[in-house]
Amino acid sequence: MSTPPSPSSEPQTPWFASTVVYQVYPRSFADSDGDGVGDLPGITSRLDHLADLGVGVVWLSPVYASPQDDNGYDISDYRAVDPSFGTLADMDALIAAAHERGIKVVMDLVVNHTSDEHPWFVESTASKDSPKRDWYVWRPPREGFSAGDPGAEPTNWRSAFSGSTWQLDERTGEYYLHLFSRKQPDLNWENPEVRAAVADMMRWWLDRGVDGFRMDVINFISKRYDADGSLPDGAPWPDGGLWGDGGPFFMTGPRLHEYLAELRREVFAGREGQFLTVGEMPGITVEAAVELTDAGTGVLDMVFQFEHVNLDHGPGGKWDPQPFSLLDLKASFGRWQAGMAERGWNSLYWDNHDQPRIVSRWGDDGRWWRESATALATLLHLHRGTPYVYQGEEIGMTNLPFAAPEDYSDIEAVNHYRQAVAAGADPQALVASMARLTRDNARSGMQWDGGPNGGFTTGEPWYRVNPNASWLNVEAQRDDPASVLSHHKALIALRRDEPCVAAGDFTMLAATHPHVYAYRRATAATELLVLVAVSGEEQPLAAVAAAVAADLGDDAAAWDGAELVLGNWHDEVRSGLAPLRPWEARVLRRPATA
Ligand code: GLC
Repeated sequence: MSTPPSPSSEPQTPWFASTVVYQVYPRSFADSDGDGVGDLPGITSRLDHLADLGVGVVWLSPVYASPQDDNGYDISDYRAVDPSFGTLADMDALIAAAHERGIKVVMDLVVNHTSDEHPWFVESTASKDSPKRDWYVWRPPREGFSAGDPGAEPTNWRSAFSGSTWQLDERTGEYYLHLFSRKQPDLNWENPEVRAAVADMMRWWLDRGVDGFRMDVINFISKRYDADGSLPDGAPWPDGGLWGDGGPFFMTGPRLHEYLAELRREVFAGREGQFLTVGEMPGITVEAAVELTDAGTGVLDMVFQFEHVNLDHGPGGKWDPQPFSLLDLKASFGRWQAGMAERGWNSLYWDNHDQPRIVSRWGDDGRWWRESATALATLLHLHRGTPYVYQGEEIGMTNLPFAAPEDYSDIEAVNHYRQAVAAGADPQALVASMARLTRDNARSGMQWDGGPNGGFTTGEPWYRVNPNASWLNVEAQRDDPASVLSHHKALIALRRDEPCVAAGDFTMLAATHPHVYAYRRATAATELLVLVAVSGEEQPLAAVAAAVAADLGDDAAAWDGAELVLGNWHDEVRSGLAPLRPWEARVLRRPATA
């Protein structure tokens, strides 16, 4: 093993470069009281699993009081825990237990919108003169229309959850904006009182001991208003219908940087400690992400960008799925790595509560399940950035089977199904085609053991547990050195222990090879070579050595003696640039050549 470089010879990297974040979706993680819904004491009881995995941070999807229209992303009280998840005392206990294990706790912060049952909104709807009227985005019917007429909505924008983004409030005859469900009205960030209330709430949670925030659709908070305060219509969606795309008028608007700078100042300035802020930002560009996350002038630590997870969406969006192309993935990741090489910081993710399971999506959840889950994890984790692991990803959890409309539970899928059937789509065909990308795939119960409901609950689970929990579970993998779980542990340890993973430069190799993803990380002291076969066919993988070596300006023999740091084929171990087998991943290390 080469000598670790001295810190002074390395570029400065932030503390979160050498750690991995684990996301918990509390409803589906661990149920302590048998009511079928996961809860905070359940999470606390499983913290040893996270400590064993080696993650440094846990991000909790929302646990605040909520009518659960969008599983907690509709908050009715930011300073209370929903009774289905427990109490504030349970939250305090969870924070303390995580900190005892050296794990930070990051809350989900959903402040583009609240629930329509939040007292702020209840007051806002009471009358046009309500002191909170201006806390939300209210507009009169479109000119020439009466409230409630078809087409009277102030703009033609389509909501992320189908239908219009505008809901008529019968009492006051005006419409309110909701980019998501009608139970998720958008806050008006132009109003300084709203911003002050959000900052105050964030300080309250930090005072309680949390270590940061994952900020939900945070690049939607600044809308692009016309000078007279109106909002324009969007271009029609390619799949026709009534609706237009409002994205250009609500994504990454003119005051975003200013609002986030204000939050950073008001919430974090002068506070002692290490905090994490990550902004979820659909549609964000590399250039904007660099400015937002610059270590000196930025306003966030890192972003979640969507380019790679949208690569298999068609022009009509996620319900119009397209085949996966490795070349597109290389082009996308390569651009983000290059764009953020000097300034800014990115997060690295495959799965989360909004995405299908990666092993089913771009891997092979049949014959090559273990190999493809470990290969794709290797591909992702050793890039420059901070990796995120979503619950169950560390054991290679797969998508669910969908046979009937009732198998779908998520509001996005349920609304789409209803609307598409009403528009004439064939119900059985829809049930089949929605299966691939529905968010429901991420929301089945965590598979802890081979017992009833995968050990997630002793009761009736609120949603399905995947039938493969009988063999695909944490217990079955814990002591198996070749398991998907052990491989994740090794990747997380490598990031923690090898400075080249956190700090090294990134170079994409063999960029036009259709079946192998290869890259080099390098510091002044160390070089790492990551080779991943993204295919179940052995034949095309033989020639990779030549392609990689040519890009490196080496001959293939130069890597012959390199140390094999990590691999996912455990029989007949191969090293160097020997031909890759199906879904083989190999990580090589050598001292840097001068
Ligand atoms: C984010 C969340 C998603 C939620 C939406 C509205 O995209 O990740 O789960 O439905 O925002 O809050």
